[in-house]
Amino acid sequence: MTLYSIRSFDKSVDTTSFSCGQPLLDEYIRRYASQDVRRNVARVFMATPENDSHHLAGFFTLSAGSVSCSELPESLAKKLPRYPSPVALIGRLDVDTGFQGKGLGLILLADACQKVANASAMLAMAGIVVDAKDAEAASFYRHFGFLPLPGQPARLLLPATAYRA
Ligand SMILES: CC(C)(COP(=O)(O)OP(=O)(O)OC[C@H]1O[C@@H](n2cnc3c(N)ncnc32)[C@H](O)[C@@H]1OP(=O)(O)O)[C@@H](O)C(=O)NCCC(=O)NCCS
Repeated sequence: MTLYSIRSFDKSVDTTSFSCGQPLLDEYIRRYASQDVRRNVARVFMATPENDSHHLAGFFTLSAGSVSCSELPESLAKKLPRYPSPVALIGRLDVDTGFQGKGLGLILLADACQKVANASAMLAMAGIVVDAKDAEAASFYRHFGFLPLPGQPARLLLPATAYRA
């Protein structure tokens, strides 16, 4: 079983050989990730195999976001205020094809949820939102309990009650 180290994105990893199978998504880690970190619009976390710290196996991004009450399913809307609620946003979560299907996507998602749960002790967030890039990605998030927002099948939300103790 491969063990991974997850740490903040830096230039010690080789991004040129990273491919999640969708070239447009791969461009992000090569060209925009460090820019986003510098501009404070995303935190980027990368996973490397424990025995190969230059090999980028997967990554995810976290940012702050918000959802308006009208976007939410009725069952959630009635538990939240009428004004927009703060959420964490997973903007990207991609696994290199060589590592797919071996549990790394789950490890990254669990780590993202843990980081949001930790941050929530200081900065309240009502849940985690993801913008799935296609139907396959949306299906991955639904597998872990994310709920599609009505009328926006690519936008899904995991309520804080699902990951906070
Ligand atoms: C989607 C992606 C992140 C999944 O990563 P992965 O490492 O292959 O997934 P894992 O091996 O960790 O799978 C964990 C679980 O999710 C399930 N799963 C994986 N992909 C799935 C999908 N598309 N739909 C439903 N379930 C899925 C697995 O069956 C597994 O289930 P189990 O824990 O019950 O056995 C990866 O395939 C990827 O990077 N794809 C290309 C980019 C992309 O679509 N990113 C999504 C963000 S927009």
